[in-house]
Amino acid sequence: RPGCTRIPVVVHVVYNTDEQNISREQIDSQIEILNEDFRKANADISTVPAPFAPVAADARLLFALATSDPDGNPTDGITRTRTDVSGFVDDDKVKADASGGKDAWPADEYLNIWVCPLSGGLLGYAQFPGGPAATDGVVVTYTGFGNMGTARAPFDLGRTTTHEIGHWLNLFHIWGDDGTGCSGSDFVDDTPNQGGANLGKPTFPKVSCDNGPDGDMFMNYMDYVDDDTMVMFTEGQVARMQACLDGPRSAIGE
Ligand code: ARG
Ligand code: ZN
Ligand code: CA
Repeated sequence: RPGCTRIPVVVHVVYNTDEQNISREQIDSQIEILNEDFRKANADISTVPAPFAPVAADARLLFALATSDPDGNPTDGITRTRTDVSGFVDDDKVKADASGGKDAWPADEYLNIWVCPLSGGLLGYAQFPGGPAATDGVVVTYTGFGNMGTARAPFDLGRTTTHEIGHWLNLFHIWGDDGTGCSGSDFVDDTPNQGGANLGKPTFPKVSCDNGPDGDMFMNYMDYVDDDTMVMFTEGQVARMQACLDGPRSAIGE
């Protein structure tokens, strides 16, 4: 599809402590980050090494908090739920009222984002297209959401949400999810074959799997580097995301 697609978003804040009941401003900061990252309008796109700059791409997606709820009533696009659960894991309990979380809004109309405390250092997780509607969407820990308030370095630039929405739009990790091997693939042609995940702040070039001289595209949103080091999607990744919007997620957006 040509042009931009607008995605209505609902943010479900599920909090155990008052601090975790994050502010409207912090939520707005995350929406703004998405609108930069998915339009190649992020200031740090300038840090992409010259050999990779030609494939850095505008994903042509716009995000906005929903203005009408599932019943058609006005909303600010935010729900707030107090929970007795002090830390969730990636078992989808945060996605249902009955298990201490909050039920999803219809997944064919909204991108559901749950913000909650996650245990064990988990920053976030996502459901790929094709799964059950009741658990569709992304989950992000309150210390990795937006760029203010409870956000904590080095995951305080909102990139966890960018990464998880990449998965929600059918992107795999850039190293191919095969551990440190060279046989896994992300099924994208313009990302170099890469050994394993990169962490922290690597320096260019970082070579693996005979991918020199330019090496790993560790500055891609679908690697595991720090928020200030992940800055781009590629044309091939955008093609996959747009195919998802034309296919399994064609109901959402306009
Ligand atoms: N699903 C990944 C995790 O929780 C998210 C990684 C996000 N990385 C980041 N720099 N924000 O481990
Ligand atoms: Zn991931
Ligand atoms: Ca690999």
